Amino acid sequence: MRFEDLRGILRYVPQFRDRIFVVALDGALMNQPNFANLLQDIAVLQSLKIEVVIVFGARAQITALAKKRNLDAISVDGMGRTDAASMELAVEAITRQTSELVADLTALDLSVVVSNALGVHPAGVIDGVDYEFTGRIENVDEQALRVMLKADIMPVLPPLGYDGRGTTLRLNSDEVAVEVALALKAAKVIFVSESGLTTADGERLAQISVADAKELAKRKDSGMDVNLLSKLRQAAFACQEGVPRVHIVDGTQEEVLLAELFSNEGVGTMIHADEYQQVRKAKPGDVPALLTMMQQSMDESALVQRSRSQILQRMNDFFVLELDGHPVACVAVHTYDLDGGGKLAELASLCVRRSHKNQGHGQKLVAFAEETARQRGCERIFALSTQAFRFFEEKMGYTVADPSIMTTDRRASYDKSGRNSKVLVKALR
Ligand SMILES: CC(C)(COP(=O)(O)OP(=O)(O)OC[C@H]1O[C@@H](n2cnc3c(N)ncnc32)[C@H](O)[C@@H]1OP(=O)(O)O)[C@@H](O)C(=O)NCCC(=O)NCCS
Repeated sequence: MRFEDLRGILRYVPQFRDRIFVVALDGALMNQPNFANLLQDIAVLQSLKIEVVIVFGARAQITALAKKRNLDAISVDGMGRTDAASMELAVEAITRQTSELVADLTALDLSVVVSNALGVHPAGVIDGVDYEFTGRIENVDEQALRVMLKADIMPVLPPLGYDGRGTTLRLNSDEVAVEVALALKAAKVIFVSESGLTTADGERLAQISVADAKELAKRKDSGMDVNLLSKLRQAAFACQEGVPRVHIVDGTQEEVLLAELFSNEGVGTMIHADEYQQVRKAKPGDVPALLTMMQQSMDESALVQRSRSQILQRMNDFFVLELDGHPVACVAVHTYDLDGGGKLAELASLCVRRSHKNQGHGQKLVAFAEETARQRGCERIFALSTQAFRFFEEKMGYTVADPSIMTTDRRASYDKSGRNSKVLVKALR
């Protein structure tokens, strides 16, 4: 691993410290070779002072046990009716599964407790059908869970509930995860599933808003697996009710949990409640939006004229800041090798859409450009500006410098442009 990557990862640590993450594991993953790694990643989260609650599903285990016994189990995911025979199978499968999970977590030196913090009641009669042993969550003993978390004890919640009359009821694990997250005001729910969410073309859905998640869950032609659909519905509900971020990741992929949580791009799907903001690399498809964004500043001579092909040639240097998937600002970072050794960066094409000015986006992108330059090994960064030099000086700590700080070639094109821009510079180390 490169140190630059480590810096990127460590950025998230203070943000996540003392926050609660509910990790919901698909039962089927427990039989997969990658499962040990997943648990190890959960241990890493706890070592970073993230408070983790584990919830798990049991569909695969109940189905396997029913097959072994030559029985037909109904509603193996805990969503429909659970009859007495299916309940017996569920209790047996889940008890074994709980024991195996606790053993695995103990082997990682984690303190865990299997909790009965869910207050449940029978789901009752729905559309004329008695759901018998299927339960619904009425409340969550949030206090009890907090006491455990504060003592560094990880609560483990099987998809079973106890109704206070001595009856055991079957629960759906996705619902358990969401109800617990809402009660604890968790920062995240992470559904670790058997597969990830993709578009009809097989492309990963990196992030979607609550509204889009609801829309997708409703679509009959989505072709989505029923288990993923349930997670998507629960994710949309959780976000709507107050969980800021819900992730759905493919648990069969290596390091999926850490890669999703500690990288800007992620590897799974993030469903978000609020307006989601991110800075990402620009793509060729962004060029029209970039040109529209920059046009007014180019007309006013605040930015140098750039053509579509000029942007495409240096595509890797461009970044966009997007809000809910729409680019609202951009910046470019060019790097030059200095004659006497070392590297110099140039911050260019900084532009914020008129409708989004004065919301801190400009400063955010300058800070991002500086970090990018640092990661690319540059010791200094400069910007040329005709109208925003005060912004660089007063808001970002740049100083006016002599054009001779540029490389010979860059200096030549600077002189040739005749723009007489001010040269602003900042040391990066
Ligand atoms: C300069 C620019 C990037 C600032 O973006 P922004 O998102 O509006 O800025 P932020 O919200 O981060 O910061 C706003 C602060 O900067 C100040 N500011 C913005 N533009 C400024 C300018 N040209 N000169 C001096 N101060 C400026 C604002 O007054 C505000 O100050 P306050 O916080 O004291 O009220 C944006 O105005 C822009 O796109 N300008 C045209 C293109 C350009 O000149 N680019 C630079 C050349 S690379």
